[in-house]
Amino acid sequence: MAELSEVILKRRSVRKYKKELIPREDIEEIIKLSVWAPSAINRQMWRFVVITEQSIKDQIAEAISKKLDEIPEVFGAENNKEVLDSIKWFSTFFKDAPAVIAVFYIPDEGKPWQKALDKGWTEKKVVDILYNQDLQSMGAVIQNILLIAEDMGYGTCWMTMPLVASKEIEKILGVDSSWKLAAFIPMGRPDEDPQAQPRLPLEEILKFV
Ligand SMILES: Cc1cc2nc3c(=O)[nH]c(=O)nc-3n(C[C@H](O)[C@H](O)[C@H](O)COP(=O)(O)O)c2cc1C
Repeated sequence: MAELSEVILKRRSVRKYKKELIPREDIEEIIKLSVWAPSAINRQMWRFVVITEQSIKDQIAEAISKKLDEIPEVFGAENNKEVLDSIKWFSTFFKDAPAVIAVFYIPDEGKPWQKALDKGWTEKKVVDILYNQDLQSMGAVIQNILLIAEDMGYGTCWMTMPLVASKEIEKILGVDSSWKLAAFIPMGRPDEDPQAQPRLPLEEILKFV
């Protein structure tokens, strides 16, 4: 096991993977450790589906491409097939990974918060709090997955572009209607060695008062 700081510094978003299959036990080990992440009121709202079937990956990639065709303007690609194809690639390259962890969350219905609404708090404020609790808990578990996978020699990439087709993906994977897609994490032995992306200087992001 490497030092935590080494693992953090070594991790990159890896988007090309060797074909080598990933033993199920490795994925189980990654999930088993990653769920030691904290979660708001220990709700452990995370759920995972591991996709290895090529036909399912292809079907999902197709659904994402179709969705992106509806909104080229978002990416300034309305008259530019090259740009749109590149966006599509950054949204669908997971299909060439030996395994993809589809990460879901079960949103907090927040029934006790009705009492705050009764006292005049706006629905937006309450939803903001509940959504942030879920979102931050999910970020914690996802980052754990990336770091544990890195420590085991796997490359991964945190992906949210697949969310453009979240409804279609939830249907293809046949998950419970309470599960909402949070992210995709393709993983495999790295077949590229990406350069480190720059980080902002500390002075710009840190203040002591
Ligand atoms: C919430 C989130 C969503 C992301 N979605 C995508 C994605 O859909 N496709 C992609 O290629 N990279 C995606 N990334 C990867 C980022 O582009 C990458 O983390 C960033 O450029 C920094 O590079 P590094 O991870 O190698 O340090 C995402 C990262 C995060 C945290």
